[in-house]
Amino acid sequence: MADIQSTEKSRELFDRAARVVPGGVNSPVRAFRSVGGDPRFMVSGEGCRMTDADGNTYVDLVSSWGPLILGHAHPHVIDAVTAAAVKGTSFGTPTPGEVDLAEELVARTGVERVRMVNSGTEATMTALRLARAATGRTKIIKFAGCYHGHVDPLLAAAGSGVATLALPDSPGVVGTDETIVAPYNDIDSVAKIFAEHDGQIACVITEAAAGNMGVVAPRDGFNRKLAELCRANGALLILDEVMTGFRVSKNGWAGFSGDTADLFTYGKVMGGGLPAAAFGGRAELMDMLAPSGPVYQAGTLSGNPLACAAGLATLQLCDDDLYAKLDAVSQTLGEAAVAALTEAGVPHRLSRAGNMFSVFFTADDVSDFAGAQAQNVAAYRAFFHEMLAKGVYLPPSAYEAWFVSGALDDEAVAQIADALPYAARAAAKVAP
Ligand SMILES: Cc1ncc(COP(=O)(O)O)c(C=O)c1O
Repeated sequence: MADIQSTEKSRELFDRAARVVPGGVNSPVRAFRSVGGDPRFMVSGEGCRMTDADGNTYVDLVSSWGPLILGHAHPHVIDAVTAAAVKGTSFGTPTPGEVDLAEELVARTGVERVRMVNSGTEATMTALRLARAATGRTKIIKFAGCYHGHVDPLLAAAGSGVATLALPDSPGVVGTDETIVAPYNDIDSVAKIFAEHDGQIACVITEAAAGNMGVVAPRDGFNRKLAELCRANGALLILDEVMTGFRVSKNGWAGFSGDTADLFTYGKVMGGGLPAAAFGGRAELMDMLAPSGPVYQAGTLSGNPLACAAGLATLQLCDDDLYAKLDAVSQTLGEAAVAALTEAGVPHRLSRAGNMFSVFFTADDVSDFAGAQAQNVAAYRAFFHEMLAKGVYLPPSAYEAWFVSGALDDEAVAQIADALPYAARAAAKVAP
């Protein structure tokens, strides 16, 4: 695979975009601000590779930030979407595909009811509303470095793009005065918050395993103890599986770890690369939603037939064989990264949650956001650009997970392994 050549056309597109779109992108991390340089405009994808406007091809370790667990343009998904599209793209009525996908989600997760929405943001926003309605309380606990979409009260100390761009809590946001931020993986601080705000906490929301400050798995028993604390204090636990759901196992993180919660949120993989997300829980809670109950939530395109078809087709192929492959390829790539960085003398920590992983450029273990922020971001920048130049597309941020897909083949793995030593040597030149 040739090294990347000209990126002139991407540059021209970015110039055009910047004139009509804020920052030239429709989601901040895409803009390469924290790694520097110009974003690449992709025009096509096939399997584990995608091709930019200048004809350069990259092995993709972002997978559209998680959804593309089968890789780009998987024939089974494309056939399903095409078959749905020719029958009509949207009806504004219930459709059979929504029922099929809802049944699949219920069967995999054990939740009793799901409501379909268009984005993870909508899923967490409504789960929060439901928790507040069910408890009659307003305060919520979230964790520093966890990202749950751009929901106002959840943008306090958020991960992902907010961390990448080192933004202060966003102007224009209201309601964060009801948000209490705790350090991730610190159960004692959560117990203390419950004690200090007795009878006021509606819910705790946590990423099932954190992936938006880089990957940081919950400590053994952390999610279980959160569930216990919530139960003891009359609050609800929302386990945000937008990233982990159907990525780390057939049943999401909960299936992988045995964790339970009152409400779950899903997105990414369940839409197969189209906009679909959902939230779910036991019937008694979910039936508080309109039209069964008084809590309002709606969406013109919710349960869209194309998105449901893509999601269902994707989940149909999310079987034991796929997860075994994802685990193996993630293991191989993680080990190759560690070997290259060790050889180059670069302080690093490989951090995993199932097949999701990322590398922190620090000598210390990372268990929370403060640990993640202690990394040498400039070293990641150099590492990222060398990988990019060798045709490997990593997340353009040190605070994001690396996502493998089932489409990664031996040639792609070899290309990544060949690029890693160059990237590690580039990172070694950047002093902390
Ligand atoms: C854990 C988690 N929750 C919620 C969201 C928001 O999802 P969306 O970008 O679809 O709104 C994300 C997005 O990355 C996420 O990782």
